[in-house]
Amino acid sequence: MKTFLTTIITVLAIGFYSLASAVPPGMEVEFTKSPMGKVVFSGKLHADKGKKCDDCHPKIFEQKKGTAQIKMEDHQKGEKYCFTCHNGTVSFKADGNCNRCHKPG
Ligand code: HEC
Ligand code: HEC
Ligand code: HEC
Repeated sequence: MKTFLTTIITVLAIGFYSLASAVPPGMEVEFTKSPMGKVVFSGKLHADKGKKCDDCHPKIFEQKKGTAQIKMEDHQKGEKYCFTCHNGTVSFKADGNCNRCHKPG
C-alpha cells in the first residue's frame, strides 16, 4: 500500500511538473507601457517559427516577466530584446512595421 501511494504521488508530481514546464512555450507576455499601444508576445507563434528556448534565454531575455526595459532606441539599433531578431535580417524590422507588434486601443 505504501509503495502504491508513493507511486501515485510520484506520477502526480511528474505530471504536474511537465504541465508547469509546458506553460512557457504557450505563454503570452503583454507589454502595456508604450503609447503606441500594447504589444502581445506570443510564445506559441515563435515556437511555431522554430525558435528554441535558448534562442532567447538567457542572452536576450531573462526568464521573468517584466524585466525587459525596452526603449525606442532599441527599436532601431537591432541588437537588444525583440530587435535582436526584428532587425530586417532574422525577421521584419521595426521601421514600417509598428502595427505588426503594437495594437492600439
Ligand atoms: C522568441 C523569444 C523567446 C523564446 C524562443 C522563448 N521565450 Fe521565454 N520569454 C520571452 C520573453 C520576451 C519573456 C518575458 C520577458 C520580460 O517580460 O522581461 C519570456 C519569459 C519567460 C519566462 C518567465 C515567465 C514568467 O511568468 O515570469 C519563462 C519561465 C520562459 N520565458 C521560459 C521559456 C521556455 C521554457 C522557452 C522554450 C520552450 C522559452 N521561454 C522560449 C521570450 C522567449
Ligand atoms: C529569436 C528571434 C526573435 C525574437 C527575439 C523575437 N522574435 Fe518575433 N518573430 C520572429 C520570427 C522569425 C517571426 C516570424 C515572422 C518572420 O518570419 O519574419 C516573428 C514574428 C513575430 C510577430 C508576428 C507578426 C506578424 O505580423 O505575423 C510578432 C507580433 C512578434 N514576432 C513580436 C515579437 C516581440 C514583441 C518580441 C520581443 C518581446 C519578439 N517578437 C522577439 C523572431 C523573433
Ligand atoms: C517586434 C515588435 C515591435 C515593433 C515592430 C515595434 N515595437 Fe515598439 N515596442 C515593442 C515592445 C515589446 C515595447 C515595450 C513596451 C513595454 O515595455 O510595455 C515597445 C515600446 C515602444 C515604445 C515605448 C518606448 C519607451 O521608451 O518607453 C514606443 C514609443 C514604441 N515602442 C514605438 C514604436 C514605433 C514608432 C514602432 C514602429 C517604427 C515600433 N514601436 C515598432 C515592440 C515593437
